[in-house]
Amino acid sequence: MRIIFIGAPGTGKGTQAQWITDQYNIPKISTGDLLRNEILKKTELSKKIKKIINCGKLVDDNIVTQLIKKRIKKKDCNPGFLLDGFPRTVNQANAIEKINIKIDFIIEFSLTEKLILERIQGRRIHVESGRVYHIIFNPPIIENKDNITGQPLTIRDDDKEEKIKKRIKEYKKFTVPLIKYYKHTTKLSNIKYYKIDASYTTLEIKKNIENIIKNNLLK
Ligand code: AP5
Repeated sequence: MRIIFIGAPGTGKGTQAQWITDQYNIPKISTGDLLRNEILKKTELSKKIKKIINCGKLVDDNIVTQLIKKRIKKKDCNPGFLLDGFPRTVNQANAIEKINIKIDFIIEFSLTEKLILERIQGRRIHVESGRVYHIIFNPPIIENKDNITGQPLTIRDDDKEEKIKKRIKEYKKFTVPLIKYYKHTTKLSNIKYYKIDASYTTLEIKKNIENIIKNNLLK
């Protein structure tokens, strides 16, 4: 099972990816998480990545594609994987097509800008694992602590209002054309394309995605 999640920042991709990983035993590969972990290494490359992410811009296609190619080669990807936030540009999509990475289905998350801001402004994360919380909608058991490790949660540097707006702008510039590209190419292939309304509760969206996965597994 190979899935792609596409959606603007804060639409709930990471939240939904979390249970899919547990339930279907496939890894969630989030380029955002891979890049944030790269930043922790404090290399020359990580300084460059940090600067770009903190501006709300997209990281260079080559850097991101190399990270993905390396990650997909790992053994745990044999039964499948969920790409969360990759590809984000037509170039990135072409890069995985070139190395013959086949995708079964794509799910697009759709949400208004108002709700995106509300969700991101309450977000807390555990950097190492990529686990995501929300101070109101999905609070941790102990305030500001990760449920599994008990380590402190953090606020992402790029989760400030003006940076969220920049990220949405980047989404419109690079990822909306990718959506158009996929809507066209999926009509000509076996890849299924689904668009979901991400304004519902986490549980309702989960049910919706579960049905999509079940329908695809039955085929
Ligand atoms: P990345 O980390 O991927 O950020 P993003 O795409 O902007 O997505 P987010 O993580 O902000 O949101 P999400 O949709 O996962 O929402 P979440 O589940 O957390 O990327 C960060 C940066 O890295 C990019 O800006 C770019 O610079 C770089 N980058 C990454 N990939 C790249 C690529 N392919 N190419 C180039 N550069 C790349 O939910 C948000 C909040 O809402 C949470 O607090 C959650 O608890 C809450 N929530 C979720 N669902 C619900 C619900 N249904 N109801 C109420 N609250 C909810």
